[in-house]
Amino acid sequence: MDIERIHLDPDDLGAGVVLFDDGRHRYVWLGLLEDEGDGAVQVNQYAVENDGRVCLLDPGGVLTFAQVVASLGRHVELGQVDHIFYSHQDPDVCSGAALWMQVTPAQVHLAALWTRFLPHFGQVDFSRVRGLPDAGGTIEVGSARLEVLPAHFLHSVGNYVVFDPISGFLFSGDIGASVFPDGQHQVFVDDFDAHLPFTEGFHRRYMSSRAACRRFVDLVRPLEPRAIVPQHGAIYRGPAVGRFLDWLADLECGVDNLDALYGPARRRR
Ligand SMILES: [Fe+2]
Ligand SMILES: [Fe+2]
Repeated sequence: MDIERIHLDPDDLGAGVVLFDDGRHRYVWLGLLEDEGDGAVQVNQYAVENDGRVCLLDPGGVLTFAQVVASLGRHVELGQVDHIFYSHQDPDVCSGAALWMQVTPAQVHLAALWTRFLPHFGQVDFSRVRGLPDAGGTIEVGSARLEVLPAHFLHSVGNYVVFDPISGFLFSGDIGASVFPDGQHQVFVDDFDAHLPFTEGFHRRYMSSRAACRRFVDLVRPLEPRAIVPQHGAIYRGPAVGRFLDWLADLECGVDNLDALYGPARRRR
């Protein structure tokens, strides 16, 4: 299965899409949710399955929990979920953590910097919480090893992405996120220039600095990802992957633009 050849019926995106399947290893996008609530940002959730064991990537918050459980149930059973990875602490990412821990036996992987914040989303069993060190680590799913890589300050201070060496997909959390007007959601980015208006403003404000962007690109480019799958918006594939990384590596954002946010600096007396 080649992600670059997947064509989708826009009216049938709720059932989720298998993005990669070699018989032992599957990478599933859990699909567009019918209703995420008025004003709520659209979110993507993914399941990586190997030898019948499963890792969920940013399965999301309280708002989308019931719909994501239903979508996941079309592909795997909840008892197969050994791991849940959270890229960072935001509510759209992990406010459902307590609920997910109730319905699955999963260990939860989150920045050590953020584990203390989890109980504010509900009761969690800390014996199943794994605090990620700054350098990242690995998550073993069946016989596969997912690589957890640092992506700090993009945008969270304790932030990670996950590279799957078997599919070649890089799960990027908020990096690469895009937002489309209502009813115009696109699943894949094939033409990066046409896509830029849907992603540029988000990155210029939410990402912390060009220095952080560049370090991230230097880290992930040698992996030659076949696709970049973000937590919001469309999935980058084919030439759009390299085009996005080129753009991100040289992006002025966040603290690079303090004057625009605060106004010109005033001299202290
Ligand atoms: Fe976020
Ligand atoms: Fe997000």
